Amino acid sequence: MSLQSSSSDNPESQSPATGGNGARNKGNGTVSSNMRLKLKPSKEHEPDDYEDMELEYSAALLSSLEMYLPSNMLNDPRQQKAKFMQDILTKYLPPGERRRAIKHREYRQKIISNYQPQNRELYTIDPTKFFVPAFLKAINDNTEQSFRRIVSEPSPGIFVFEMLQKDFCEALLEEIENFEKWVTEAKFRIMRPNTMNKYGAVLDDFGFETMLDKLMEGFIRPLSRVFFAEVGGSTLDSHHGFVVEYGQDRDVDLGFHVDDSEVTLNVCLGKQFSGGELFFRGTRCEKHVNTGTQSEEIFDYSHAPGQAVLHRGRHRHGSRATTSGHRINLLLWCRSSVFREMKRYQKDFPSWCGECNREKKERQRSSIATRLDMFRRESESTA
Ligand SMILES: [Fe+2]
Ligand SMILES: [Zn+2]
Repeated sequence: MSLQSSSSDNPESQSPATGGNGARNKGNGTVSSNMRLKLKPSKEHEPDDYEDMELEYSAALLSSLEMYLPSNMLNDPRQQKAKFMQDILTKYLPPGERRRAIKHREYRQKIISNYQPQNRELYTIDPTKFFVPAFLKAINDNTEQSFRRIVSEPSPGIFVFEMLQKDFCEALLEEIENFEKWVTEAKFRIMRPNTMNKYGAVLDDFGFETMLDKLMEGFIRPLSRVFFAEVGGSTLDSHHGFVVEYGQDRDVDLGFHVDDSEVTLNVCLGKQFSGGELFFRGTRCEKHVNTGTQSEEIFDYSHAPGQAVLHRGRHRHGSRATTSGHRINLLLWCRSSVFREMKRYQKDFPSWCGECNREKKERQRSSIATRLDMFRRESESTA
């Protein structure tokens, strides 16, 4: 089974181009080669609030990146820190992508100024209407214990829990139908959520960006901080939010792939369907993405409406054919720019890759075997 890497069509949310720490032309000048963040964050440092500033990147992103600034910069004026951090982020955006980002902003503006939402209440988070009480209580308690009480982990690194209320799922499905109707009537050509789905829509393009940001920050990041700390779970700072639709007259299945995310939330919204099981086959780093699967990594899962699955983006997965009815899922790819930046400086193997771990154990086993062998020979020759 060979694997595809699914990425979004959304230019604003693509992963940074590979670049390392060296100087790089960013279209409006060069970035100096000594411009880099610290490996170890200043955890005690209280970051500034950038909400009121005109920025190219989100204020939350800058606040979470701030603790990685060189120590002598931490107390500099906000403007100066914002410029430094934005320059670092921009050095990973080639000039062509900057142009695409601007075009995409215009595209989104066009939808938002023409599309009439059916149910405006969905666009602002209302926890008591959106979430089931047990989920909400666990988030409010905000402890590992409270999370463990509501989630199950049927296979390592895959967390399943009841999340959305039935009424909310139905209302969101109606809203999706409404904007699909508008797309058809207005003959508006919409961008699909990623390179693998021909149906579905990007919720961020239809005015859901702020709501989904709050969903990530207030409800997914607390869980990810506990369950996915080693892949930037506590510093998730941007997202790509979309719905996908499966059925005989939609996308039927989804090939084996990894997501362009650190953590993925996948919630089933409905409707009636059969088939469409998700299959998971172990977490892998870039180097090992196409390596074989160990038997303990095989896990298949049947989704039910309202239920959420939370997993690492690098956890290889796909979905089987939806054989009847319609299956519509809400996906939130959560990303951490801090994690992506830090990954470039790391020399160790990633602890979360199943194959890296297997290789490490193999090396340890063979070095013990060699030592035992040497010991045996030595004692034989002295006997
Ligand atoms: Fe996926
Ligand atoms: Zn690996």
